[in-house]
Amino acid sequence: MMKRKKISIIGVGNVGATCAHLAASKELGDIVLLDLVKGMAQGKALDLMAAAPIKGFNCHIVGADDYAFTANSDIVIVSAGLARTPGMTRDDLSDANAKTTKSIAKKIAFYSPNAIVICVTNPVDVMTYVMFKELGFPSNRVMGMAGILDSTRYRTFISLELGISFQDVNALVLGGHGDGMVPLVRYTYVGGIPVETLISQERMEAIVERTRKGGAEIVGLLKTGSAYYAPAAAVIEMVDSILKDKKRILPISAYLDGEYNQYDMFAGTPAVLGGNGVEKIMELDLNESERNALNESFKSIRKGIEKLV
Ligand code: 2OP
Repeated sequence: MMKRKKISIIGVGNVGATCAHLAASKELGDIVLLDLVKGMAQGKALDLMAAAPIKGFNCHIVGADDYAFTANSDIVIVSAGLARTPGMTRDDLSDANAKTTKSIAKKIAFYSPNAIVICVTNPVDVMTYVMFKELGFPSNRVMGMAGILDSTRYRTFISLELGISFQDVNALVLGGHGDGMVPLVRYTYVGGIPVETLISQERMEAIVERTRKGGAEIVGLLKTGSAYYAPAAAVIEMVDSILKDKKRILPISAYLDGEYNQYDMFAGTPAVLGGNGVEKIMELDLNESERNALNESFKSIRKGIEKLV
């Protein structure tokens, strides 16, 4: 008999809870919510389960504050830690969130040694590295969510600019999930047409800039936390491709071992996501200015890692 997949979500703030809602709606598997704040995960799990008869999803959602409930997960989503408030950069969260990430990694390694782990905690490229080192898992089973989020914001701004369907914008953002991220204009297509033939260079520059600051724009508006609908949708797109072995090419934070001349770090690149996690990293052919921008972005991730050790 086929068993349902098991998805554990560590940290059920807005991102974690929205991931659970989306995963349940798509019936991706049974879900365990875990939070150290007593009652939080249990409360949200009950609330979500109560939507099942109306929404018609068949999966169980359990809340817990003990990691034993997460045992033998197929996928673990880590969305624990602090989020930004106005004026903060993602890097300002580093010290506090690294501690949390390390302790979570120990629990995952113990209870779910075969899991694929998706890290969402910011600064995500650095935290995914911390997670990877602490877990001791092979690099195909550890990844960070960022590129899909940055790309979906970029795609949204382009479709709004042109007044055409969101579905028809194909684009990707490389590098770190920070102000130096690299939206690749040359690789952006709208219904198969290069975007550069549809939008002026000046307007594209504004769109690229808005994409880079996309997270901060939302933090500035919300004031009490950061974005979660699009981040959760991005995580679930990854989970869907992995659990259904779709082998989609998606921009994620992946372990680089020579790609883009980088070693031993996590950064945003397109990769094939399937049943084995990160199955292949797609290295792109870049021109000089794209390479320079990407190298700057890599440098800032490295700085973030070095600050921690
Ligand atoms: C964002 O870009 C929280 O980093 C996340 O919204």
